[in-house]
Amino acid sequence: MEVLEAIKTRRSIGKVKDEMVPKGLIKKVIEAGIWAPNRYLTEPWRFFVISGEGRNSLARAMEDIVIQSGVDVESEEGKKKLEKERSKPFRAPVIITVAAEVTENGKALRIEELGAVYAAVENMLLAAHGLGLAAYWKTGNACYAPQMKEFFGLKEKDEVLAFIYLGYADMEKNPPHKRPAAELTKWIDK
Ligand SMILES: Cc1cc2nc3c(=O)[nH]c(=O)nc-3n(C[C@H](O)[C@H](O)[C@H](O)COP(=O)(O)O)c2cc1C
Repeated sequence: MEVLEAIKTRRSIGKVKDEMVPKGLIKKVIEAGIWAPNRYLTEPWRFFVISGEGRNSLARAMEDIVIQSGVDVESEEGKKKLEKERSKPFRAPVIITVAAEVTENGKALRIEELGAVYAAVENMLLAAHGLGLAAYWKTGNACYAPQMKEFFGLKEKDEVLAFIYLGYADMEKNPPHKRPAAELTKWIDK
C-alpha cells in the first residue's frame, strides 16, 4: 500500500474477531515500531505482547487500579466500573503495550523520548493496517497509573503510552471529520 494512502485509510477499529493474530504478523508490527526516528538513537521503546491468559493478568492489574483509586466497589456504579475495566483486555486477541524507557544520560530530553515512542506507535498502527489487521490505540487512566508501570516492571521515570488492541476487523468505520490542513498551516516565507 502506498504510504499516503495507508495514512489516510487507517482507522481505529474497536470491534475485532476472536481469531488470534499469527505471531509473525505481531512481530512485523513491532518491527515497524523500532524504525521510528529517535534523537541520540536512544531507542526508548519497549513492547509487551499480551494474549490468551495473559489478558487475565492485565485485567487484574486494571481492576486493582480501580480498587486502589478509592472507588466504592460495593456501589452499583463501582461494580460497573470494575466490570468494565476487567473486560477491557478481552476486546481483542492481542494487546501490544508500548512503553517508553526514558533515557537519563544528561542529553536526552524526556519530551523527545516520549515523542519517539509516540512515533513508534503510529508506525505500528500503519503497519498493522498495511498487513490487513485492525488496531486501536487505547490509553485510559489505568495506562498512566504507577501500578501499571509496576506491572510491566518499569521504573517511575518510564511511561506506558499505548495499549494497541490488535485483531481482524469485525466492523467498518467511516473516516472522522478533518479540518483542512490549510486551515491549520501558516506558511512563513518572508
Ligand atoms: C495518545 C492517544 C490516546 C488514545 N486513547 C484512546 C482511548 O483511551 N480510547 C479510545 O477510544 N481512543 C483512544 N485513542 C484513539 C482516538 O480516539 C482515535 O485515534 C480518534 O478517534 C481518531 O480516529 P482514527 O484513529 O480512526 O482516525 C487515542 C489516541 C491517541 C493519539
